[in-house]
Amino acid sequence: MRIGILSRNPNLFSTRRLASEIRDRGHVAEIIDTTRVAVHIGDDGSSPNRPQMMVAELPDMTRPLMLPALDAVIPRIGTSVTFYGLAVVRQFESAGIPTTASSYAITCSRDKLQSLQTMAQAGLPIPRTAVVARPEALYAAVEAVGGLPAVVKLIHGTQGRGVFLAHQMATISALLQRAAELNRQAIVQEFIAEAGGRDLRLIVVGDQCVAAMERQAPGGEFRANLHRGATAAPFVPDKPTAALAVAAAAAHGLAVAGVDLILSRRGPLLLEVNSSPGLEGIEKATGINVAGKIVELAENAVRSPTALGKRDG
Ligand SMILES: Nc1ncnc2c1ncn2[C@@H]1O[C@H](COP(=O)(O)OP(=O)(O)O)[C@@H](O)[C@H]1O
Ligand SMILES: [Mg+2]
Repeated sequence: MRIGILSRNPNLFSTRRLASEIRDRGHVAEIIDTTRVAVHIGDDGSSPNRPQMMVAELPDMTRPLMLPALDAVIPRIGTSVTFYGLAVVRQFESAGIPTTASSYAITCSRDKLQSLQTMAQAGLPIPRTAVVARPEALYAAVEAVGGLPAVVKLIHGTQGRGVFLAHQMATISALLQRAAELNRQAIVQEFIAEAGGRDLRLIVVGDQCVAAMERQAPGGEFRANLHRGATAAPFVPDKPTAALAVAAAAAHGLAVAGVDLILSRRGPLLLEVNSSPGLEGIEKATGINVAGKIVELAENAVRSPTALGKRDG
């Protein structure tokens, strides 16, 4: 098989691991820089053989080069290129090429508010969360999520950037105002203090939780992102917790997901679902070959179109 990895950087750990697993399993790996792919759609009707849509890679950014025919793609779409990456993924979808992350699922998981609404709708536990359009509604919203301190979160954020802990109403108002000035949207969320800067990252591939780690934020920090200096330890989730992560991925239509969970007094709560979870932290913490499991999923999808489950949410 010829399996494509959509990634901006061939040197990233996750990209290298996926490529090496593709090769080790006897396939050809094509690493495709999403931003070097030109998407051409529409047709002037002049030639019956002209493709209705073309996905081309630009060697010197002027002359298009048709992409090699791929059997499957593994999108690794960074948040900085969501819009463009989605255009490319949709192109592969319309060409009938299996993708381990559908464009719908990426869209749904990338917006933290839409993602939380999706999980709440599926009956899954999440921290109390509110969004307000008008400053007058803020006080009631903070009360509704359990009062101060409260978490303010940009709906498009990653690696803990855009997640803040506010001890005062004035801080929350200022953060929301700043977000609005930058044309970004934010939510207000219940602060799970009892987690003590600890959270869980569970990796779901297909309908299984294949690996999990516990992350601990460094002193004075409540965000347990590895990019914020958190430490990771392998973790074996109990069956209900693993089932929660699988259900969260399924609610978004994601066949591959990094699910963040926090342990609260009332049990595990789902924080977010990542469609391109980093592989370095989880593989190093657990010794589990997560990349191999993702490649295996892509292989299964080529053999059986139902392997990726529900595709359009
Ligand atoms: N409501 C909350 N209460 C306590 N800690 C939180 C809460 N929300 C997020 N965190 C901490 O902040 C980290 C980052 O939040 P998350 O929602 O996963 O955003 P990001 O996309 O930036 O990783 C989490 O891993 C968790 O450790
Ligand atoms: Mg996170």
